[in-house]
Amino acid sequence: MGIAWSRTVLADERRLSAAELARRVAAPGFGEVTTEHVVSCRWSAEREWHDAEVLPYQPVPMDPAMAGLHYGQVVFEGLKAYRQPDGAVAAFRAVEHAERFRRSAARLAMPEPPVELFLESLAELVAADRRWVPADDSQSLYLRPVLYGTDASLALRPAAGYRLLVLALVVENFFGTDAPPVSVWAGSRYARASVGGTGEAKCAGNYAGAFAAQVEAAEHGCRQVVWLDAAEHRWVEEMGAMNIFFCYGDRLVTPPLSGTLLPGITRASVLALAADLGLTVEERRVSLADWRADATSGAMTEAFACGTAAVVTPIGRVVERDGGFAVGTGPVAGRLLAALTDVQRGRVEDVRGWRY
Ligand code: COI
Repeated sequence: MGIAWSRTVLADERRLSAAELARRVAAPGFGEVTTEHVVSCRWSAEREWHDAEVLPYQPVPMDPAMAGLHYGQVVFEGLKAYRQPDGAVAAFRAVEHAERFRRSAARLAMPEPPVELFLESLAELVAADRRWVPADDSQSLYLRPVLYGTDASLALRPAAGYRLLVLALVVENFFGTDAPPVSVWAGSRYARASVGGTGEAKCAGNYAGAFAAQVEAAEHGCRQVVWLDAAEHRWVEEMGAMNIFFCYGDRLVTPPLSGTLLPGITRASVLALAADLGLTVEERRVSLADWRADATSGAMTEAFACGTAAVVTPIGRVVERDGGFAVGTGPVAGRLLAALTDVQRGRVEDVRGWRY
């Protein structure tokens, strides 16, 4: 598509000093530490994608009647870039993230950003903020593309104008360095998604809709929520903003992509890597009752959540209104985590072309 880029990058003397940068990234947590630049691009029916820019990180103007704010026409992505042993920087499965971003945009009746624009945006931002890409194995650069309707209009229809922003943040493990295995709350008061809804799109509203359940989980001493299907409140679908896997020894089971789950890129990567490790994989539904019975009998040996932010995180306990049960921890989650991070951090050959 050959979009023209305008680049306004900070002069060296206006950038943070090395000492200040080191101070900011010393304990970044997840979501607090943004870099010094941001990418912006606009879309209109007449001009399609235009005004692609790299800018110093700054607030963006917003009309109080902005459509995205009022009606939630907002989709995003989250992917990570890693410093490689030779000093290069590689984003993990960027093309697959671009393709999912397009599907999310289509679901919310938004223009679909071309894959090439998505990839160029990442490359431009990482080039401007290259010194922020952590060398430390406990950190990565989280890239957050977000697309929203910008019309200054409360008319209830898809916006006519859109803005794409791409931010970069230095992050460490989503659950903190000493947190896993996590406890999860299996309540039945809320549901995340139903068939025909937006569950498989990465739209902002899915996350806002989950916060009340997350608060409820915290009230029960849990870090995350187990999402059960909306129709029967029986089948386990996801965990928080992550996909979920169950291990029966060397057999991995994960819920199928029924239309209500987010099709996780990490989920797909785990399925592929599991085969390399000699694990068998099965996509089938598991009920909360099965989980309880199989974890208690010992037939189910482990369970873990996976996602870009959480990577692979073991689950240690499920808490229910009338009790709960422990989930075993074993070697499988750790083996998959190692296999995944080895590809992400360039420690093994990239046989599947996952590093961009
Ligand atoms: C991710 O793993 O990328 C997520 O979706 C979690 C994020 C919303 C913090």
